[in-house]
Amino acid sequence: MVGNVAIDGPAGAGKSTVSKLLADELGYLYVDTGAMYRALTWKVMNQNIAMDDEVEIARAAEFTDIELKYDAQRVLRVFCDGQEVTSEIRQQVVSKNVSKVARIAAVRHHMVRLQRRMADKQPVVMDGRDIGSYVIPHAQHKFFLTASIEERARRRCQQLDEQNIPFIGEEVKKEIEVRDEMDRSREIAPLIKAPDAILLDTSCQTVEEVVDEVLKVIRGE
Ligand code: DC
Repeated sequence: MVGNVAIDGPAGAGKSTVSKLLADELGYLYVDTGAMYRALTWKVMNQNIAMDDEVEIARAAEFTDIELKYDAQRVLRVFCDGQEVTSEIRQQVVSKNVSKVARIAAVRHHMVRLQRRMADKQPVVMDGRDIGSYVIPHAQHKFFLTASIEERARRRCQQLDEQNIPFIGEEVKKEIEVRDEMDRSREIAPLIKAPDAILLDTSCQTVEEVVDEVLKVIRGE
């Protein structure tokens, strides 16, 4: 038992792929906190709530049930109020708006409460922006993954391509830059490396190399 693992970093740094593989290796639950903010953003958009209507968005958050469940193939599926939204939440229009929803204090309080409950119930590999610094600051292992903006944009385009989601390369890069800036500069629990997190620049590493490196640290090898 190696204890909870927190993985933070900017968009497209490879957090979710690495975290999922780590969770499989350790037999832990993988908690994709970005998917939770994305699911709420999808609902807000679906209900035609204006992105600057913080009161209505906060109210929507309070009455939103978000579940992360593995299917038989151990693929993580995302449900919002019982409806599956696994692929909907990856659309560019959701990516564009998610940071506006995620900066609202009441939204963060709600999500963090759910996330802490999950981490209390079972060992987790949890990825996001504020996991090591705010959500589970006492996690036994903390990592901060980063990579150059070019490499992060390339990976995000590859992911969208694999999911058959249409995109324009330059727009993906711009969207990542704008989102990172909003996530870094928000008042509550911004994107930040916890002082005791290990920094890994994955620009020139394969997913397998990153997972190996993280596992070595966790296992004290
Ligand atoms: O990991 P992702 O790209 O799917 O995350 C989508 C957005 O959700 C991210 O740009 C900011 C927000 N987010 C957050 O504010 N806090 C987290 N712990 C995870 C994600």
